[in-house]
Amino acid sequence: MKVTVVGAGAVGASCAEYIAIKDFASEVVLLDIKEGYAEGKAMDLMQTASLNGFDTKITGTTNDYSKTAGSDIAVITSGIPRKPGMTREELIGINAGIVKTVSSSLIEHSPNAIIIVVSNPMDTMTYLVHKTTDLPKNRIIGMGGALDSARFKYRLAEALGAPISDVDGMVIGGHSDKGMVPLTRLATRNSVPVSEFISDERLEQVAADTKVGGATLTGLLGTSAWYAPGAAVSGLVQAIACDQKKIFPCSTLLEGEYGLNDLCIGAPVVLGRNGIEKIVEIELSDAEKAKLAESAEGVKKTNGLLEL
Ligand code: NAI
Repeated sequence: MKVTVVGAGAVGASCAEYIAIKDFASEVVLLDIKEGYAEGKAMDLMQTASLNGFDTKITGTTNDYSKTAGSDIAVITSGIPRKPGMTREELIGINAGIVKTVSSSLIEHSPNAIIIVVSNPMDTMTYLVHKTTDLPKNRIIGMGGALDSARFKYRLAEALGAPISDVDGMVIGGHSDKGMVPLTRLATRNSVPVSEFISDERLEQVAADTKVGGATLTGLLGTSAWYAPGAAVSGLVQAIACDQKKIFPCSTLLEGEYGLNDLCIGAPVVLGRNGIEKIVEIELSDAEKAKLAESAEGVKKTNGLLEL
């Protein structure tokens, strides 16, 4: 299993590290345009191998796509992250050009790869890959919901005073502060609805804190976060590489599912060796449907800024 990660910055390197530590891939190639940067990150990570006990071989390259040839999975993290006060949508001008060039170079050298898009605004960047390549929809996956759901579970555990391993919950919809739809009604603590333990007001606060999870960290760090994003990507990569058939909310091209068409947005999907093997349609309440429809409108508005 060969995995390429384009962009050896904060998220790309974190993602490579988690993939290596989980030790399921034979090779991870980091690629960046900054001279020597990916090579340096790869060497530093390889020097953790004996300490962390993994055999995954990590190499780095400055923009030489021949080194990525034959990748089974390729992750796109190249592009600029947001600064405090910025929205993800504001990154479109620079990142659209980068994602378009990078995806075409990746596919040229790895025609069978499954692509995971991370660069923001992620739903629109995922849609851009659909529009500018001829890859089938199961092989284009946007990562956002897996991270947002992890942030939701963190906030749920905090509100419940419970260990994170005891809680479950999912965030669907667009990967933006306004567009996320944390499914509070379906969140559970060890299979008991969380509404049995906390008030509606507290649950609403959990949802609100989840939606600004990324912005909160950007305010604290001065740039966007990387540990949880890297871990979330590695979870998707592992599910595909190990054919786990796990359900994650991912940005995927909808063609009628949830009453939506011609956009990529977060919905529960089954991930396995073929990428997105199934889009899972769950029964939503009217309020949830309305929130998802509003979120879709926001994503479509951002898609409208693409020069296709
Ligand atoms: P970063 O600035 O640390 O790293 C980005 C890297 O991309 C840099 O090393 C840069 O040299 C490289 N790069 C730029 N253009 C390139 C090109 N054409 N080819 C190859 N490499 C290129 O940024 P960070 O924090 O790693 O974030 C990366 C992206 O991921 C941002 O757009 C950010 O908004 C997004 N992000 C998305 C998340 C999600 O849940 N979908 C979560 C966190 C970040």
